[in-house]
Amino acid sequence: MSELVFEQMDLGADFAKYDQLARAEMRDNDLVDGRELRQLLAERAICAWWVRRPEQSEPVGWCSIMDPPIFGWENKTAHIFGVIVFGSEKGKGIGSAIIRWLVDQFGARSLTAAIAPTNLASERAFRSMGFVVMATEEGEPWRTWRRHPTSESSSSI
Ligand SMILES: CC(C)(COP(=O)(O)OP(=O)(O)OC[C@H]1O[C@@H](n2cnc3c(N)ncnc32)[C@H](O)[C@@H]1OP(=O)(O)O)[C@@H](O)C(=O)NCCC(=O)NCCS
Repeated sequence: MSELVFEQMDLGADFAKYDQLARAEMRDNDLVDGRELRQLLAERAICAWWVRRPEQSEPVGWCSIMDPPIFGWENKTAHIFGVIVFGSEKGKGIGSAIIRWLVDQFGARSLTAAIAPTNLASERAFRSMGFVVMATEEGEPWRTWRRHPTSESSSSI
């Protein structure tokens, strides 16, 4: 996997493009649409990034995190809010590389992620980065996964 470039989204980002790309990958219930994403960024509730290959302008993926200390709040846990790999780029290791980057950036704190139990690719990618299932609630569409900061770092995997 060649190196990926992470470009942080600001309020001038192309939210229509995000909306179109994300809508193609996410079920309606799981989708944070372009309008909601803009609102969350405006409220400084999350940080989000386009993910590109260095030589390409079109994004291959997107990710976001809710990391209270970024905004000066005390909290030991950061929540991975979304990871998406677009279209035919899926299944090439990009999702795993994005999660590895998030762990490298934010893994000094506990990290959580909510994953649908039917999403095998997502579960495999998070498990290989040291995440374990924390909670399964009857009838809930997601399970919460957690990675403790003491887990092996991705660089040693
Ligand atoms: C989930 C997602 C981010 C994974 O990214 P990806 O680039 O496709 O995944 P990778 O190629 O890095 O593969 C990750 C693991 O899943 C496995 N995998 C890939 N596609 C798979 C599939 N369709 N079914 C089962 N396992 C699969 C890979 O073999 C790999 O496992 P390994 O590390 O044990 O070898 C991507 O599929 C996606 O964007 N899905 C739609 C949006 C979504 O569901 N996001 C997650 C919300 S938490």
